[in-house]
Amino acid sequence: MNQHTQRLYQQMKKRLDKVVPDAELRLKAEIAAEILKLKKEKNALILAHNYMEPALFYSIPDYCGDSLDLSRRAAAAGKPIIVFCGVRFMAETAKILSPASKVLLPSPRAGCSLAESISADDLRALRRRYPDIPVITYVNTYADVKALSDVCCTSGNAAAVVESLHAPRVFLLPDAFLAANIAAETGRRIVYLDRDGRLPDHLPESPNGIIIGWHGKCEVHERFTTSDIENARRQFPDVAVLAHPECPPEVVAASDFSGGTNAMIRYVDSSPARRFLLLTECAMADNVLAAHPDREMIRICSLRCPHMNEITLEDTLEALRREQYEIQVPQPIADPARLALEKMIAIG
Ligand code: 13P
Ligand code: SF4
Repeated sequence: MNQHTQRLYQQMKKRLDKVVPDAELRLKAEIAAEILKLKKEKNALILAHNYMEPALFYSIPDYCGDSLDLSRRAAAAGKPIIVFCGVRFMAETAKILSPASKVLLPSPRAGCSLAESISADDLRALRRRYPDIPVITYVNTYADVKALSDVCCTSGNAAAVVESLHAPRVFLLPDAFLAANIAAETGRRIVYLDRDGRLPDHLPESPNGIIIGWHGKCEVHERFTTSDIENARRQFPDVAVLAHPECPPEVVAASDFSGGTNAMIRYVDSSPARRFLLLTECAMADNVLAAHPDREMIRICSLRCPHMNEITLEDTLEALRREQYEIQVPQPIADPARLALEKMIAIG
């Protein structure tokens, strides 16, 4: 280990001593040091989602954050290369918002069950059938779906985006649970399209308006149940329970707080509680624990997103070396998708 790598290892060790075994940390520090050297040589920017594994999260990124935060960082990047340590829809968003940069995704297999749940053809048919209803799409969609949308949203700003439209009915696609949770938060009723993309014949009365949802689900968050919360509360009555809004509505209702990943981190940062149950992708609990070694994270959360898990330090090094896998978004798709994303960023 040279002096530079030794220094990086010591920094990582200080942060991750409780979270990553020493032998693994030494190996990862070596790879991270090579990445940092190449990053400097190539004047690249590394963005990493909050779900990245701890050794990556605490070594190579210029910025870590949630989808909204990373979209803003990408828009302001001004770098020839952006390496996106996250999943494809996030890297596509970065490419759309920073078209002059070469955007690299370290694994071609880092997808997302929500993004897979709706196609551009699905949305085209919906728009044809219901041309007067505005369409909000969650950023967890591919670029061709964003291109057909009025505005995008993330878990961090979905309620604000819905309210900004002042419309009696809005589509909020494709996450069925996010739509229901945002309906509850904004005092609206939730209604679902059927599998053929049709609305029910009669829509319920709702003075504050209606949110219309699709049937997409996050394959990680859909698995949390109220029993997980009951079990944790039975054993640890003082536990603070935080649920991502992609969780089922009954799970969100039984939690103490619901918000996107940055909001969850802020909650832990400022909470007087000592014990937490984070109902979200499980690497995030390790990252939060590393930042707060005096707090306890209840470890019933063992759900790792298989797509986020694709992104390793090894693949990130290869991505920078070979400048792979480059994200391309054709201009006729990128231009309207950018409008929908920029509207979202302007709302907050
Ligand atoms: P955030 O926008 O809250 O970071 O969530 C992204 C995501 O994919 C959650 O599963
Ligand atoms: Fe998609 Fe769920 Fe993975 Fe987030 S955690 S990237 S929503 S599959």
